[in-house]
Amino acid sequence: MKFFVDTAVIEEIAELNDLGMVDGVTTNPSLILKSGRDIIEVITEICALVEGPVSAEVVATKADDMIAEGRKLAAIAPNIAVKVPLTWDGLKACKVLSGEGKMVNVTLCFSANQALLAAKAGATFISPFIGRLDDINLDGLQLIADIREIYDNYGYETQILAASIRSANHMSECARIGADVATAPPSVIKAMANHILTDKGLQQFLADWAKTGQSIA
Ligand code: G3P
Repeated sequence: MKFFVDTAVIEEIAELNDLGMVDGVTTNPSLILKSGRDIIEVITEICALVEGPVSAEVVATKADDMIAEGRKLAAIAPNIAVKVPLTWDGLKACKVLSGEGKMVNVTLCFSANQALLAAKAGATFISPFIGRLDDINLDGLQLIADIREIYDNYGYETQILAASIRSANHMSECARIGADVATAPPSVIKAMANHILTDKGLQQFLADWAKTGQSIA
C-alpha cells in the first residue's frame, strides 16, 4: 500500500520523506488554510520535494471553471493530481482533465456508486472518506471493501485512495482490504510505530543494561 501524507506543511512532509514514507501528498482547501501558505507557492514547493503525485484541489463548482483551475494547477508540475469533488460537474471535469492525460483525484466520495461513476469518468484516484462516515455511525472501512470488490469485478484501474484516516488501525485495515493508497496526517503515520509492549520491553532492556555497567560507545 502506498502512503500519501495528508498535509500542506512542508516540514512535516520533509521529515517523513527523508524516511522513505512518502509516496505522494494530498492537500485540500482546509489543509491549505491550516498551512497559512499561498496555494501556488506551497504546492510548487511540495512538488519539488516529493516525486509522487501531489493532489491540489479546485475550488470552482461549475465544470468549465473546474477545468480551467485544474489546468492551472496541473501546469505547476508534472506530478500534480488535480483534485475535483464528486459532483456531477466534478465528474465532467474529471473526464476532460483525464482525457488530457492529467492525473485526477476525485474526492469527497461517500458511496460505492459514486466510486463507480468516478472510475467510468477516468479518475486516476478515488478518495473515499473513512473517518467522516465513522463520525455519523456508518462504516467507512466497509466502503473501502465495497469499492475494492466492485473495481476488481470489472478491472477498473482507478486507484482507491483511502482518505479521512484518523487512526493507525485505519491504516492496517485499509492495507488488509487492499486499498491502493492511504493518505493520513503525519501524526497517524507516526502513531503506527507505537506499541505499549515495545515501550515496556525497551524499558526493561535499558534497566538491565544499566546493571551490566557496560558501554558500547
Ligand atoms: O484527504 C481528505 C482528508 O483530509 C479529510 O480528512 O479528517 O478532515 O475528515 P478529515
